[in-house]
Amino acid sequence: MRQRLKHRIADIVIFGGTGDLALRKLFPALYEMERTGRFDDDTRIFGASRSEHSDEDFRAKLEEAGKKFVPEGEFEAKIWKKFAQRISYVQVSAGDEAGFKVLHEKLSDQPDRDRVYYFSTSPGLFADMAFNLKKVGLVTPNSRVVLEKPLGHDLDSCREINGQIGEVFDENQIFRIDHYLGKETVQNLMILRFANAMFEPLWNSAHIDHVQITVGEEVGAEGRWSYYDDAGAMRDMVQNHMLQLLCLVAMEPPYVLDQDAVRDEKVKVLKALMPINDSNIDTSTVRGQYRKGAVGGKEVPGYLEEDGANVDSTTETFVAIRAELNNWRWSGVPFYLRTGKRLPKRHSEIVIQFRDVPHQIFPLAKSMTNYQANRLVLRLQPDDGIHLILNNKNPGPGLVRLRPTALNLSFAEAFGGRSPDAYERLLLDAIDGNNTLFVRRDEQDIAWQWVDAIQDAWQNNHITPKGYTSGTWGPSAAIALIERDGRTWNEEAGF
Ligand code: BG6
Repeated sequence: MRQRLKHRIADIVIFGGTGDLALRKLFPALYEMERTGRFDDDTRIFGASRSEHSDEDFRAKLEEAGKKFVPEGEFEAKIWKKFAQRISYVQVSAGDEAGFKVLHEKLSDQPDRDRVYYFSTSPGLFADMAFNLKKVGLVTPNSRVVLEKPLGHDLDSCREINGQIGEVFDENQIFRIDHYLGKETVQNLMILRFANAMFEPLWNSAHIDHVQITVGEEVGAEGRWSYYDDAGAMRDMVQNHMLQLLCLVAMEPPYVLDQDAVRDEKVKVLKALMPINDSNIDTSTVRGQYRKGAVGGKEVPGYLEEDGANVDSTTETFVAIRAELNNWRWSGVPFYLRTGKRLPKRHSEIVIQFRDVPHQIFPLAKSMTNYQANRLVLRLQPDDGIHLILNNKNPGPGLVRLRPTALNLSFAEAFGGRSPDAYERLLLDAIDGNNTLFVRRDEQDIAWQWVDAIQDAWQNNHITPKGYTSGTWGPSAAIALIERDGRTWNEEAGF
């Protein structure tokens, strides 16, 4: 039987409504919800920001962006028209009560409705916005707030923001977004592990040699240079997306799929991360910064030559880390993480390298240069899918020889259709009040603690980023980091 779609009635307010994220991701995601019939006719959407716009101006701006950012073939004028009718604009300045009063006038006719306030602004404005919402009486038991990253710069600043927001909203009303958790393939990781009996018995140090998590990007810092320069790859990618991926690979099965059960298990993983500090910083991390080079056949400038760059910047655009978990399941299994900008391609994957058979009796096929024990590769983007590398018999008569070959599952081929954008999924969850795929306060604190220790050790030990040519997989030290342990990054294995 076909499941009936749930039609949501809500008031959704996007603060930072004219910003880059709103135009590129949030409004296109809301449009997709319109297109797929998820909204009740009464649902209202408000854009809020400092600048002055009429409703018509604002809608025109959104439409222009929509034509660019809604996935190809999905922008339909008729549907957009219906969508646009829900949208109005409110001029609001974070610290100024006046704009919030105007917002109140618009929302107060529906005091019991589910409300989602999406803070897509600089985190420095979060507290003012939350306090003003409360002051004008806009925070009701059915209100939720979605907080965009970065939530602070380190543990202290994150605690401060969370403390302030916590004065206005209860923890279950706060939705800290990490868009990686909204990616289909990332959620599929939980299904793969906990709905297939064949993997879980092997999912531990007795059978897994190591894990690799790579999030490679072609893009550089470009137009976001000054934001990016304050953060660097460590705060921009590792503190959130990379650690979330690590948690999903390493966590114990939750007893139920609910917000606390899942997040309790992730917290345990983060707590088990062995500290990286002055004693092991040299052998456990590599920092890099891109120099000029070519990506996808196009010449690109180095990080320090980007528009508006500070030529003395020592911010990293690449990090590789050798992490370990101090617990029963994972003791002695390294987790190699790497992420960077201006790498050869946009390519994200999780590699689970299984241990070899205890005693190998077959020789390798002559055409193969390297032997491969079983390896499970979860491709997150692009071409989402799963590859399982198995050893097979090299076809033909003569000596029985081994030939590692991949069993491939492409999600696009298997399921057809498009994968919804992460923001679409997460916005729906926020409207429904489901916090499972959002980050809890304690999770975030522990992640910052671990990251802060690495940042401190970099500073104490004067570790500055090593240059790497754009279009390569980071500094050679990142290759050395894993090769010191007698292992190689996945693409070097040639699969
Ligand atoms: C964001 C980072 O959180 O994630 C960006 O701030 C990065 O620097 C982006 O480019 C990557 O997301 P995705 O979905 O393109 O892999």
